[in-house]
Amino acid sequence: MSAEELRRHLEYFQDLGIRELNIAKPGPIQPLPAAAKPIPEETKSMELILPPLAPAGDTLARIREDIGDCKRCRLCQERKSIVFGSGNERARLVFVGEGPGADEDEQGLPFVGRAGQLLTQMIDGTAAKDNLPLRREDVYICNVVKCRPPENRTPQPDEMEMCGQFLYRQLMVLQPKAICALGATAAKALLNSKEGVTKMRGNWQRWNGIPLMVTYHPSYLLRAYNAEAKKEAWLDLRKLFHFVLDPARTEPE
Ligand code: URA
Repeated sequence: MSAEELRRHLEYFQDLGIRELNIAKPGPIQPLPAAAKPIPEETKSMELILPPLAPAGDTLARIREDIGDCKRCRLCQERKSIVFGSGNERARLVFVGEGPGADEDEQGLPFVGRAGQLLTQMIDGTAAKDNLPLRREDVYICNVVKCRPPENRTPQPDEMEMCGQFLYRQLMVLQPKAICALGATAAKALLNSKEGVTKMRGNWQRWNGIPLMVTYHPSYLLRAYNAEAKKEAWLDLRKLFHFVLDPARTEPE
C-alpha cells in the first residue's frame, strides 16, 4: 500500500470517528469476505472496501456523536432524521432492520410505523404466549442504514458499507446474547450471505461470535398472503426468546 493510500485509509477511519486502533497481533492476513470481491459498480466511488473497526472504550453516545449531521452518502439528501436506534442499551437481544421508512424519518425512531407496530405485536405477543418476561422495551432496535432511502428503496451496497461501520460499532458496544436480523438486507449486511431469508431463517448463525437468527421482515409479513411466513417468524422468535431468557444456556443449541 502506498503512503497516499494509507493516508486516505486513515482519513476514512478518522471520518468515522475512529481515533485509536486496536492493532491485532501479527498473524496471517485475513482475506476479505468473498462477497466483497469483485468490487460492485455502486461502491467503486469509495475506492476501498475496509474491514469494520471499533475504537477502544466505545459507547453508543460516542457513536451517535461521530455520526453527527452525517453527509457521508447520498441518503443525507432527503432525510429529515438520522434514526440511530432505540431501546434498552443493556438488552440481551438486538433487532436489526433495513432502514427507516417515512414514519421513522419523521419521528427519528426505528420501527414506529405499520411494520413497527407488527414488530411490537410479534415481540410482546410471542413472549406473552409462552409466559416469558420480555417486552419491546426490553430489547434494542436499530437498522443497517440510519437515513431513509428515497421511496423506501433497498439501500445500495455503498450506503450499507458506509453506515454498516456504525452498526458494527453499535453491536460491539451492546454485546447482546443474540441478534435478530429482520429480512434480507440485515442478513446480507451482518452475514455477507447471498442466501435468501427463507433458506436462512430458523437456523442459528453467528455474527462475530454472537448467535444470530434471521427471520422475515415485518413489512413482508404485512402482505396478506404471508400466513405461513408469519407462523415461521413466530417460531423463530420463540427460539430466540427461550435462548436469550434462559441464563443456563450460553449456546443456542
Ligand atoms: N423498516 C425497517 O427496516 N426499519 C424501520 O425502522 C422501519 C421499517
